[in-house]
Amino acid sequence: MPRYMWSSEWETGEEAIDSQHRALFQQMEKLADALMNDQPAVGTERLLTQLNEHLGAHFQDEEERMAATGYPGLLRHRSLHGEMLERVKVLLAAFHKDPEGTPREVLNFLATWHLKHIAQEDKGFADYLKTQG
Ligand SMILES: [Fe+2]
Repeated sequence: MPRYMWSSEWETGEEAIDSQHRALFQQMEKLADALMNDQPAVGTERLLTQLNEHLGAHFQDEEERMAATGYPGLLRHRSLHGEMLERVKVLLAAFHKDPEGTPREVLNFLATWHLKHIAQEDKGFADYLKTQG
């Protein structure tokens, strides 16, 4: 049973963004599997690094769509993304230092943050798009 199941509740209606969100969920699932099966730290590190990169690219795409559609919440949203990337950077550095002690914390943080972010913040963008026709 997957731990991080995508829910259609979180669809924004922007296909590019929704498919990136779904892909990020799959990556979190892979990472969770790696942690459960005690895969070697090097494999887990690769998954974490990939997830971090995809998150950065996704945020950039999302912000570009927001700018292109004149979304008034762009500045706030961009700063939330920036804070997130900064925190992930710190967690990744901790992981490099102590691979055994950090991954679950990183995963929990990423999953919890991203779920909340999609459900609350990205949904705000989706609602705005609906008002634009
Ligand atoms: Fe976002």
